[in-house]
Amino acid sequence: MSLRWGVAGLGRGASFVEWISAIEGCEVVAVCDSNEAALERFGGLETFSDYEEFLDKAALDVVAVITPGPAHGPQSVAAMEAGLHVLCETPCVYSIAEAEAVVSTSRRTGLNFMLAEDYIWMNWTQQLKKLVDTGRLGDIVFAEAEYTHDCRGGMLIDAEGKHHHASEWGTRDDLKPAWRAGDLPPLFYCSHTLGPLLYLMEDRCTTAIGLHTGARVAPGVCPVDMESGLLQTAAGRAIRLTNGFCIAHPFSLFTGLYGTRGSIRMVNLGGLEVKAWFEDEATGSDWQNLDMDYDQREDGRHWVTVMLEEFVAAIRTDTAPPLDAARSMDYTLPGICAHMSAEQGGQPVPIPDMRQI
Ligand SMILES: NC(=O)c1ccc[n+]([C@@H]2O[C@H](COP(=O)([O-])OP(=O)(O)OC[C@H]3O[C@@H](n4cnc5c(N)ncnc54)[C@H](O)[C@@H]3O)[C@@H](O)[C@H]2O)c1
Repeated sequence: MSLRWGVAGLGRGASFVEWISAIEGCEVVAVCDSNEAALERFGGLETFSDYEEFLDKAALDVVAVITPGPAHGPQSVAAMEAGLHVLCETPCVYSIAEAEAVVSTSRRTGLNFMLAEDYIWMNWTQQLKKLVDTGRLGDIVFAEAEYTHDCRGGMLIDAEGKHHHASEWGTRDDLKPAWRAGDLPPLFYCSHTLGPLLYLMEDRCTTAIGLHTGARVAPGVCPVDMESGLLQTAAGRAIRLTNGFCIAHPFSLFTGLYGTRGSIRMVNLGGLEVKAWFEDEATGSDWQNLDMDYDQREDGRHWVTVMLEEFVAAIRTDTAPPLDAARSMDYTLPGICAHMSAEQGGQPVPIPDMRQI
């Protein structure tokens, strides 16, 4: 029988409608967006502007929660309470209490909850995973990642839900900071940086220290320009993360892995460059170039399609998804705890293990 999906939030969620519809044995039967104008292009489906009514009246098996971040925790819990599996965009919760609510609801209901951290299924992560698993780096002792990206173009929102550049602040009465400006501390969006590191190392974080810049790029619109976290892991490694979205440069992603027998440094500044040094194979001091595509997988499949297929397979076989609720929180809570630390002047903040609640 076909799995009946509902998609909530039709910004990025509009792409999810297409991606899910292309998966064998899945159909999108209903969509929900609080902005009725966003529903107009989905005339062939059941449409809802009220999320509770969407859960109540649409005949669904699964919900994709692709709404603004602050809504994710409560909307995911409500969907599971309504008997539905949940795939949720990042950040999937906004506090430790929300993480506990999501994990305990998934456990009690037996329904699958998964963070849609698509970077895990991208080619670069898959290629680095194969390489790390060969042991050529030895044990990884330190890892770092940065995701910085000028998102000022969408940081204000008008009364009709249209986005505007942060530089328009103060020019019109109806402009207010969009959620991604006013309500997204940069490290809350840590799963694109931390997720791949934890996936590669099969580790989790236990303590966070954070510092942030406050608002200097677009004061009044974006409260924090850039934020860094230092994380201790359960296996005794250290991790450094940096995120910033109110910043004067385009997309930039950096990842570094430092092992007992080698290192890898990967940077994407609009094009991917990956350099590696393996002690056992080195003939001089030159770094090797590792030739790999950034997101296009070797099997030719779209990384989000593979993520969706693995999530659907878990539902069909009644098994845990690749990122179950507790693992989803491993990818999310360290950023929240590092931000809490930054707000307390850099005091260490313990990161709870959601398997222990
Ligand atoms: N994985 C990625 O690479 C990636 C990329 C972009 C966005 N995202 C994530 O996807 C999510 C959505 O981001 P976006 O850029 O589409 O945001 P957006 O603000 O552009 O769109 C969100 C949509 O949700 C609707 N909405 C708001 N509150 C709602 C509610 N309570 N119920 C139903 N609908 C509601 C809005 O009207 C809007 O149409 C976020 O969590 C974001 O972090 C992930």
